[in-house]
Amino acid sequence: MLKTSCLVSMCVLAATTLAHAAGSESEVVESLLGRMTLEEKLGQLNQIDGRPSADEPNVPHVDEEQVRAGSIGSLLNVYGVEKTRRLQQIAVEESRLHVPLLFAHDVIHGFRTIFPVPLGAAASFDVAAVERSERVAATEATAFGIHWTFAPMVDVARDPRWGRIVEGAGEDPYLSSAMAAARVRGFQGHDLAANDTLMATAKHFVAYGAAEGGRDYNIADISAQTLHETYLAPFRAATRAGVQSVMAAFNEVAGMPMHANTELIQGVLRGQWGFDGIVVSDYNGIAELIDHGVAADRKAAGNLALRAGVDIDMVSGVYSGQTPSLLQSGAIAVGRIDEAVRRVLRAKYRRGLFDDPYRYCDPARERNDILTAANRAAARDLARESMVLLKNEHRVLPLSKQARTIAVVGPLAKDAASMLGSWSAAGREADVISPLQGIRSAVGPRTRVLYAKGVDSKSTGRSGIAEAVRIAREADVVLLFIGESHDMSGEARSRSSLALPGSQEALARALRATGKPMAAIVFAGRPLSISWLAENVSSILYAWFPGVEAGHALADVLFGAYSPAGRLPVSIPRSVGQVPIYYNHKNTGRPPQESVSNTSKYMDIPWTPLYPFGHGLSYTTFRYDNLRLSAPRIRANETMTVQVDVTNTGDRAGDEVAQLYLRDDVARVTRPVRELRGFERIHIEPGESRTLSFQLGPEELGFRDTGDALVVEPGTFTVFAGGSSAATLAAGFEVIGDR
Ligand code: NOJ
Repeated sequence: MLKTSCLVSMCVLAATTLAHAAGSESEVVESLLGRMTLEEKLGQLNQIDGRPSADEPNVPHVDEEQVRAGSIGSLLNVYGVEKTRRLQQIAVEESRLHVPLLFAHDVIHGFRTIFPVPLGAAASFDVAAVERSERVAATEATAFGIHWTFAPMVDVARDPRWGRIVEGAGEDPYLSSAMAAARVRGFQGHDLAANDTLMATAKHFVAYGAAEGGRDYNIADISAQTLHETYLAPFRAATRAGVQSVMAAFNEVAGMPMHANTELIQGVLRGQWGFDGIVVSDYNGIAELIDHGVAADRKAAGNLALRAGVDIDMVSGVYSGQTPSLLQSGAIAVGRIDEAVRRVLRAKYRRGLFDDPYRYCDPARERNDILTAANRAAARDLARESMVLLKNEHRVLPLSKQARTIAVVGPLAKDAASMLGSWSAAGREADVISPLQGIRSAVGPRTRVLYAKGVDSKSTGRSGIAEAVRIAREADVVLLFIGESHDMSGEARSRSSLALPGSQEALARALRATGKPMAAIVFAGRPLSISWLAENVSSILYAWFPGVEAGHALADVLFGAYSPAGRLPVSIPRSVGQVPIYYNHKNTGRPPQESVSNTSKYMDIPWTPLYPFGHGLSYTTFRYDNLRLSAPRIRANETMTVQVDVTNTGDRAGDEVAQLYLRDDVARVTRPVRELRGFERIHIEPGESRTLSFQLGPEELGFRDTGDALVVEPGTFTVFAGGSSAATLAAGFEVIGDR
């Protein structure tokens, strides 16, 4: 039956789309636009959520009549060849103008092969590996009929109370920009019309990560300086990398909700940066302008969003419902609607959908291209690259091959679901190698692995602690798997505490009292304030949520087959009271000094983080020396080359993340104490030295002013090189000439 209809469809298709195929982008778009009724135009701007219900998982929640009428332009949460083909067929064969649908989905860190959560992936400081991970995600998602992902999330986040910190690359605009561009390249590949590329979305535009109090959806009340230098930076990078869509953020910035923010969307994004893709609303974001209090009703909300340049209305139905009366009253000109429709049609054209609307509907790819051995290997690679060894006293790690009995303890040791983190697309718990499985599969026949859960990850019960202590006493070494469960970070998962949830610290204390060597492996989508662990446990490995290959990657690191080299993309605070805490802070007029009163610090705890941005150890050691500059001074439009030698001073090979920081010593406006301006993850053999070169051109030397212009100020600069943001090896130079 399906076969017959496919054959018929091919003929109809030939008749209806070949004309399109012959045309250039603007010919196809303008010809369609010229023939569309208002309802059909509004249909293109209307995105609906077709997520099937739990009772009928194979039936998209879509009114097919609406597709036939051309009242829907795109859908989210519908995937699978059969489902997408059926709806596409209705759109291209049964609707009047045969315009194909776009299928979108949140493919955030993998589709079926789940990679580490984005915050963890950022800890790899490996741009190429992150790009590869999105290539895999794109290959898998497109095999299921998906054209468009709502990723990457590029929101800088300096407040770990905010649960969505897990989805971004952390606190630093430079690292976030590099990761944003890599993810866009990975998703979109070289040819948007290839059947394995996904259209990417940079989200959430903008400053969503600056939610006051770390409370999701809350307002962002930030300075223009912080907006342009910090929060806009990764969006600028994504735009330069060619991202094809941008999602408006739920929050307001300085009193103007982003879904109504003409100044930033039309002014900066489209005007100054030349972005010509789609701006999509966030889920129901247009209607929420009423709750923000800038629109009295749905009609006013639609008016504001259309004027601000939001093209697609995700699920609120405001555009399709209200635009006719907006046009009638003259509040909106039809030209504005046409602009938005043009962008949607252009996206469809660029995806090749007018040539072949079924190019993403290949059952063979759906069967064969997912969760392949190669995809799993890529996930394992990135997972072990993402793990950060915070501390390693007495060399508890890597585990000695002599260990005969290992006690595996903790609520996360067997929690396969949590390894996937938030947003796991088509990921399945059953695909996951849990930490316990990974360890069991890595040990030899003479090693015993004992397991006790100890406590639950959230609740406060302590009855399992005794059993955990019992097996710890029998063991040579204790591996403690603790942290957050996957559903404690992500959207609407803000926390007021950064402590280990439930009774997990009590479990750690009881195990510590056994006196056994112990390593804590911490899973989380945010930095947790783990001061007690830092003071009392010999080794701490921060594993984030590592994805489908969690157990294998952990075993590689714990048993030493792989030397960890992940670095913190975000500072770990000692206490939630320090938040927001970030390395690239300002100096203030009274820089903190612990021993001097009336300086910028706390009475009760040190002002410094528990572990700084960029920190991470390895199983070997590295030395930095010979920091040198290509010239003592350069002009503002020239480039300085900075070189440094890095030597592996230990007895085994390993990766090192070399980092370069810059300080603009004196400027017209205050500058951060240092800013990351270069990094490279390199592999070095024992005893080997490598010379690294970093280029500091205007983009690195300068900063954005409040009009988003790049400014390089003449004066002295200091560079720092080393293995973290606390690097002390420094050199100075001067920039001369005009601003
Ligand atoms: C709301 C989230 O804020 C956004 O990131 C996501 O893409 C949409 N929901 C669609 O699921």
